[in-house]
Amino acid sequence: MIIEPRMRGFICLTSHPKGCEKNVLNQIDYVKSKGKIAGAKKVLVIGASTGFGLASRITSAFGSDAATIGVFFEKAPAEGKTASPGYYNSLAFEAAAKNAGLYAKSINGDAFSNEVKAQTIDLIKADLGQIDLVIYSLASPVRQHPVTGVLHRSVLKPIGDTFTDKTVDFHTGIVSDVTITPCNDEDIANTVEVMGGEDWQMWMDALLDAGVLADGAMTVAYSYIGPKVTEPVYRKGTIGMAKDHLEATAFKITDDLAKIGGKAFVSVNKALVTQASSAIPVIPLYISLLYKIMKAKGTHEGCIEQIQRLFSARLYTNGSIPVDEKGRIRIDDWEMDEAVQKEVAELWKGATTENLPAIGDLNGYKSDFSSLFGFGFDGVDYAADANEMVEIPGLI
Ligand code: NAI
Ligand code: NA
Repeated sequence: MIIEPRMRGFICLTSHPKGCEKNVLNQIDYVKSKGKIAGAKKVLVIGASTGFGLASRITSAFGSDAATIGVFFEKAPAEGKTASPGYYNSLAFEAAAKNAGLYAKSINGDAFSNEVKAQTIDLIKADLGQIDLVIYSLASPVRQHPVTGVLHRSVLKPIGDTFTDKTVDFHTGIVSDVTITPCNDEDIANTVEVMGGEDWQMWMDALLDAGVLADGAMTVAYSYIGPKVTEPVYRKGTIGMAKDHLEATAFKITDDLAKIGGKAFVSVNKALVTQASSAIPVIPLYISLLYKIMKAKGTHEGCIEQIQRLFSARLYTNGSIPVDEKGRIRIDDWEMDEAVQKEVAELWKGATTENLPAIGDLNGYKSDFSSLFGFGFDGVDYAADANEMVEIPGLI
């Protein structure tokens, strides 16, 4: 079957196995080109199949020769349907890891469930004994609570006031106003249930209780802050309340890990095109302006550059881990650079459908979005038959 992109709003219904493989191999090459990192040797990545989580798995394996267990929720290929990109990414990752003589196994299931936590612990006990690093990189619109059974849905809404500002439909390039009505109290609670820190805490409690965390084990979850223009829908909106909760949870987990000398951190990462971020209104316009400016300055990074720098220049240096006044690791420093932000704010005011192709990097946005699904890679023959019926060898 020849696989072509079929875009529907914020998602693409198809993904390309060879393109996803190329995406993974490019990231591996990048990490190898930067040299070794004296990092963890046994790593669990929760949300390991795409975005920052995949980059964390690749950086651990190919930067520090780590054995990795990846947990994710992806669709396997079915008759006439391609798999979700994270499935193909993981297939490619496992093949490359095995080629390099590295242990890699994956669990495809709901990370929020007790069952997947128990399965993961069994796998660690059977194969690795103990883990030194746990990366928590889930992004999900829903969570079924493992105790109450309630299905919580997160929302992306402002709190208090109706919000109106510009956004761009990145497929058409049309800049228009978007108005979002404020959330209710339930929306905040639900979003915190899904994207807050409770599940991270549950993972760390379960791992600690099972004795599968090594002395000095570390865990890192990812957060975002961003600029003034996205504050009402992001940091001061419902999702921001969840991120506040996640950040506060790091301190609780650090307290719990004290008995093994472990520590929990939140790393604030840069805005990037991922499946999670393209669904948030206003962010695509911000990202297209930001990319243009950061590319011109030579400071632009993708997920793999961000995570390689996080591991090599923050987590695993000879010194202590630098944090901000709220205890967070900042790898969004180049995004939040004052000059960069000033320029974005200026461009934002004048951005229109007509001038966006010139003042923003809409093409960069579109091409990054296509890349998420394995499309648009050099060296991939998209006219060739792609056999999409494949199984991940180390899949549990
Ligand atoms: P993503 O959508 O690329 O990755 C999400 C991962 O979670 C995938 O591996 C997916 O399979 C997994 N997942 C989702 N639901 C699951 C479930 N129920 N069970 C098991 N696995 C599940 O997202 P991205 O952008 O890499 O986000 C990861 C974290 O980074 C999030 O906390 C996000 O808020 C944060 N972040 C994202 C930024 C961005 O601009 N994309 C910026 C800064 C932080
Ligand atoms: Na991820």
